[in-house]
Order: sequence, then structure tokens, then C-alpha cells
Amino acid sequence: MKAIKKAVFPVAGMGTRFLPATKANPKEMLPVVDKPLIQYAAEEAVAAGIDTLIFVTGRNKRSIEDHFDTAYEMERELEAKGKEKMLEVLRSILPKHVNCVFIRQSQALGLGHAVLCAKPVVNNEPFAVILADDLINFSEQPCLSQMVDVFNYQHCSVLGTEVVPREDVSSYGIVDGTEVKPGLMEVNAIVEKPPVEDAPSNNAVVGRYILTPRIFELLETTERGAGGEIQLTDAIAALLSEQRVLSYNFDGIRFDCGSKLGYLKAQVEFALEHEEVGADFRNYLLDLAARNGSKVVPISQKR
Ligand code: G1P
Repeated sequence: MKAIKKAVFPVAGMGTRFLPATKANPKEMLPVVDKPLIQYAAEEAVAAGIDTLIFVTGRNKRSIEDHFDTAYEMERELEAKGKEKMLEVLRSILPKHVNCVFIRQSQALGLGHAVLCAKPVVNNEPFAVILADDLINFSEQPCLSQMVDVFNYQHCSVLGTEVVPREDVSSYGIVDGTEVKPGLMEVNAIVEKPPVEDAPSNNAVVGRYILTPRIFELLETTERGAGGEIQLTDAIAALLSEQRVLSYNFDGIRFDCGSKLGYLKAQVEFALEHEEVGADFRNYLLDLAARNGSKVVPISQKR
């Protein structure tokens, strides 16, 4: 089977959970410290050996295209001012060998439909899907790179999964299956956002997939499912009856940056590790806790 060289980023969603911040700006451009979510996702793909980034975009998403394009005016200005470090930040957003392709999803018909929009570019190759609002921190190896290793060994579709609290299962695609070895499971059932009482497990698919191209044909005939949308999960359920699909509990910490709380947690964790501000931010947090006798008191309650 061919190597994984292409990644699809469905970025057409409206991001209503972050209004008003997302009224005129895509949610994928929300920064965690100083980098937009979509850049973390692109970097994770590149680290996994991917050289073609396929963005499935929609209305109001122009700034994603601009972000991955050359910013001539800004570069010229920084050059003139001799701001080499900043110039390097601008120029190293993506390595030179990586190409970006933008496809427009003209109708919001769901994640499955968004992935199907990438078919003419992906063609007949296995490929990755990354949902940028699932931001995954790691200590040794980025999540997708771990999954590519699994794919290279097992030669089949691989879903990135995480065990979630039972009460949260109705927010995810949930898998069930047979353990191959610790953390790796052969999937025999997958269901999109089941009610707690119907969930086959609490092993949830998070926004990382490696899929064989057969998924495209299955998506073409997938009916609207949960929420009236064409669900990727439903096409994967159909794939299961034809091909082996594995779920992989990756090593890393996921932040659900599609929710305000998850996004705030990501800010804190990534800020603590940040080269420039990490040490000062840590001191600030310690100071904040110490000032209030280990309690974090919002300013409005201090009066
Ligand atoms: C999507 C998928 C779901 C998956 C989730 C991971 O749902 O449909 O199966 O578990 O992403 O974040 P969404 O969060 O877009 O509603």
C-alpha cells in the first residue's frame, strides 16, 4: 500500500460555539499562545511525513489560505527593519516541499461530506484526516506520526481514539472491538454520538483518522445520519464490513479546542511549555495561587 502523503483538514465549519470571536474569523485561526490551531494541525501532518495539505474550506475562511501563503509586504518590512527572528517565524510556517490545496465545500452537509470533497485530490491513496480543534500535545512523538507507524505496520485504516468519561460518549464517534495488543483494537462497531445507554464502550474517536480510499465510494452512498449530516462515522461503519479497521489509543493529551473550557486548558498547558513566556507564566500562576491562599479568585469577587 502507498505511503501516507496527503492530509485532509475539514475547516468549513462555522464555529458558532466561539461567537463573537468567530463572526469574521475562522475558529481554526484561534491562537493557542501565538500559533493558530490550524498551524498546529499542519505541523503535526508534516511531522508525520505528509507533503500535501488539503483544506476543505467554506465561506469566511480566506485567512486560512493567507496564513499558509507568503506575506510579501510583511516580509519586506521585517527585512528592512532587520527583524531576522520574526522573519524566520514567518518563513518557517511550512517547509518548502509542502503543498497546500484548497477545496470549497459549498454546502454544510457534515464531516463525511467534507472528506468526500477531497476525493479528486486524494485519488486512490490512503490518507489522513485531521480535525484542527482537537489539539494534541505529546512528549515524544506527535499523534499522527504514531498512527502512521501503526498504518505502515498494519496496512489498514487507523482511528485515533481516547477513553472518555462515560457521560461524554454522546459527543463522539464511539468504537467497540477486540484488543490486538494494549492500546490497539480491531474495530467491529462504530456509532456516531450514541446516547449513554446505547454506547458500546467509552472509547471515543478524536479528530485523527487514517483511511483507505475505499471510504470515498462508501461516502458517496452514505445517507444523512446523526444531526441530519453525512457522517464520516457511518461510512467507517460500512468500511468495517469490507476491510480491517484499527483503533489506536495514542500517547498524548488531547484538548477539545472546540469547547471554551478545552481551549482555555490548552492555552494554560501550551503557555507553560512556551519557550518565550513559559517560565514567567508559571511564576504568574504560582503567584496568583499564593496571593489568594491557594484559591483562584476571580477579580470580580475580590471586592
Ligand atoms: C466529529 C466526529 C466524531 C468525533 C469528533 C472528534 O464530531 O463526527 O465522530 O468523535 O469529531 O472530535 P464533531 O466534534 O465535529 O461534532
